[in-house]
Amino acid sequence: MVVNISTRPGPNAQAIIDRDMDVMTGALNPRYPFAIERGQGARVWDVDGNEYVDFAAGIAVTATGHSHPKVVQAIIDQAQKFIHIAGTDYYYDVQVRVAEKLAAIAPFDEPARVFLTNSGTEAVEGAVKMARWYTDRKHIIAFYGAFHGRTMGALSLTASKVIQRDGFFPLIPGVHHVPYNNPYRCLHGREEQACRDHCMCIDYIADVLFKRVVPPDSVAAIILEPIQGEGGYIVPDSRFVQQIRDLCTEHGILMIVDEIQSGIGRTGKWWGVEHHGVQPDIVCSAKGIASGMPLGAVIAREHVMSWPPGAHGSTYGGNPVSCAAALATLELIEQGYMQNAAEQGAYIQEALEEMQTHHPALKHGRIDGRGLMVGAELVLDEKRTPAKALRNAVEQQAIQNGLLILGCGESALRFCPALMIDRATVQEGLERFELSLTQAEQAAGLL
Ligand SMILES: Cc1ncc(COP(=O)(O)O)c(C=O)c1O
Repeated sequence: MVVNISTRPGPNAQAIIDRDMDVMTGALNPRYPFAIERGQGARVWDVDGNEYVDFAAGIAVTATGHSHPKVVQAIIDQAQKFIHIAGTDYYYDVQVRVAEKLAAIAPFDEPARVFLTNSGTEAVEGAVKMARWYTDRKHIIAFYGAFHGRTMGALSLTASKVIQRDGFFPLIPGVHHVPYNNPYRCLHGREEQACRDHCMCIDYIADVLFKRVVPPDSVAAIILEPIQGEGGYIVPDSRFVQQIRDLCTEHGILMIVDEIQSGIGRTGKWWGVEHHGVQPDIVCSAKGIASGMPLGAVIAREHVMSWPPGAHGSTYGGNPVSCAAALATLELIEQGYMQNAAEQGAYIQEALEEMQTHHPALKHGRIDGRGLMVGAELVLDEKRTPAKALRNAVEQQAIQNGLLILGCGESALRFCPALMIDRATVQEGLERFELSLTQAEQAAGLL
């Protein structure tokens, strides 16, 4: 393994970081000390010439890898024709083609309609507005640990870290948070299997929330991530997701799935919710949809997206250049990257399970995921005490070893590289990860 041992950040990166510190908002800090020069596939280079394996993919976004030639060509071709015209006012083919494709892959057996946005948080805003409009109900149920975005409506649903909400109250009224099924860390303190077999989060909604707090017939929607992302890459038991669907059906509540991180082939299927065998009413998408060009989508059953002309809109939503990138991205994913995500993700999980045998921080930890949405939760002991400082040390050490990897949840790391990553690059990244883990464990006195 070739590891550049020059200290990172190098002088060029440090100069950018210093200038950034003087002018950019402090809300983005602290960040990783990496300043990109260029990227190709699942690798990136910093401005000092150091190379890195990219297991972060710009927060699970660069689905086809950095600057895939077909995506770049699609962007150039579209930019040469026109860059903007406003889909709220005029028609253009590339937008319709994206909508047709998204409607064709929508995870429900009913015709779909599509609203295109610029980002994930906007897709969530649109979904919630649509749910309120369609049902004429005011309340929304969301989950602890959920991340749905940062704009006021989406932030009201987010319950991942309190710093994301603190100082911004009052948020939108009518949002109720409930526990999310997490068999490894059942909030009700139950054993893993018991939590799977009978999820008390469902009882909580049915017996506590609906009986003491809010009548079910005033709830417009339940929104959930089929696999929690920022919350820690947590895969819930499918029975929990199925029971949420049942509750929705029983009470006329819309089921919104936030597929912003888990969708578009990342889990080895178009949508994370497909792993649970459930059909939602509304899907929110973004991130990987256009390989890094800003685009998001609300995809809903046709009868649900029946709001009238003028009810919603966006100047830039469905930007033509982003749509062209999306068409190229969706084709590449369909033609092989989705299958690759399933295969490489399974390999990463196996490799991490093997590491569990000799790494104390992984020994009692959680390794879980679908496709290339794999999480590893680091813990200090059998009692599963979160190894937060150690996780942070691994991330920092990884930079020095030429690996970009992101944390999530309290003490987890996520493995979410581009869906095109090949086995050799996966192995190289895993070697760099293991080296970083070893160094962090040694520094913490665990090895
Ligand atoms: C599940 C989920 N929903 C919504 C968002 C918000 O997306 P954006 O940052 O594009 O607004 C994110 C971003 O991380 C996400 O992971």
